[in-house]
Amino acid sequence: KQTVKVGLMGLGTVGTGVVRLIEGHQEDLRKQTGCNIVIEKILVQDKGKERNVSVPPEKLTDNPRDILHHKDIDVVIEVIGGIEAARTYVTEALLNEKHVVTANKDLMALHGVELLHVAEEQGCDLLYEASVAGGIPIIRTLVEGFASDRITKVVGIVNGTTNYILSKMSQEGATFAAVLKEAQQLGYAEADPTADVAGLDAARKMAILGTLAFRMNVSLEDVDVAGISSVTPEDIEYAKQLGYEMKLVGIAEDDDGTIDISVQPTMIPQEHPLASVNGVFNAVYVYGEAVGETMFYGPGAGELPTATAVVSDLVNVVKNMRLGVNGRGTVAPYREKRVKTAEQ
Ligand code: NDP
Ligand code: HSE
Repeated sequence: KQTVKVGLMGLGTVGTGVVRLIEGHQEDLRKQTGCNIVIEKILVQDKGKERNVSVPPEKLTDNPRDILHHKDIDVVIEVIGGIEAARTYVTEALLNEKHVVTANKDLMALHGVELLHVAEEQGCDLLYEASVAGGIPIIRTLVEGFASDRITKVVGIVNGTTNYILSKMSQEGATFAAVLKEAQQLGYAEADPTADVAGLDAARKMAILGTLAFRMNVSLEDVDVAGISSVTPEDIEYAKQLGYEMKLVGIAEDDDGTIDISVQPTMIPQEHPLASVNGVFNAVYVYGEAVGETMFYGPGAGELPTATAVVSDLVNVVKNMRLGVNGRGTVAPYREKRVKTAEQ
């Protein structure tokens, strides 16, 4: 194919970044893939809304069928968020033999294994790099970079909003409510920021990372979650006086086949590398039996960092299309899961 047509579902923070990146890097993308990548249609809720990026009005639609049943659209990018509509659209796209790229961790944490199965059956790619840690290519790293190793531990600051809040409270003495509002204005927070604050967004990401790292079907219920809503400025100040920084940390461990995964506010010694991960930045530490200790760092949310992950997935889909190898990248979780109980 000379031209690959994309249906973009969503034109909020991430969708806007995707349009900017595809337009801005058009020539590089063409050289890497050998194809012109064209956004054919864009699904939104409100076609009359003012947009942060200029798009021809005829490309906007509020009817998902214009993308899902468009015979020339090869790849669907889902960045509307939420679960039920996204699940329906992603499933329908795959059943219509369209490749899918999504940034949706809510969807992938709950239905990822089932959707990846549909994708494989259809010979389609379903890639979701942006769903965890925004601009850090951690999913590709776990799946491909560590394919030869056995990972036994993943520790991460994987929510940009809460890290932004805790850092600003610690460094500037800012109030929780004011910094949450800033994080929303900057496009870091979820549509319902309770998911960030309550630790649920980080828990979904840890379930995805656990599934990939330990090659077993880790679900959200396997993650013990506590958020940051009960963390007070006094807790943060007290922790600092004792030489610690307060961070929302996800820990996933595989102890000889028994997994233990949690997300909770944690006091990190100030000299520890995770203590200096501030603002919207994320970091993921991975321990593999053969490789030893590794660490990955970068922006965890926001328009362009997240769009880099989405558009890099798109590039991979297009390269796979040229090679005729779509739908072959997924490894279904194959290890039996045992979850550590309170008594253990
Ligand atoms: P936004 O709320 O900014 O944008 C959502 C977009 O989807 C809007 O354009 C909205 O339309 C459209 N939309 C929502 N629901 C529907 C629907 N049912 N039918 C049609 N269109 C719909 O979200 P984000 O861009 O921030 O996030 C998108 C996804 O990316 C989410 O899954 C999120 O978790 C994930 N993500 C976000 C990151 C970030 O930094 N923001 C980082 C990593 C992942 P309209 O504009 O008309 O309202
Ligand atoms: N709300 C999420 C965060 C977006 O703050 O990390 C990135 O997944």
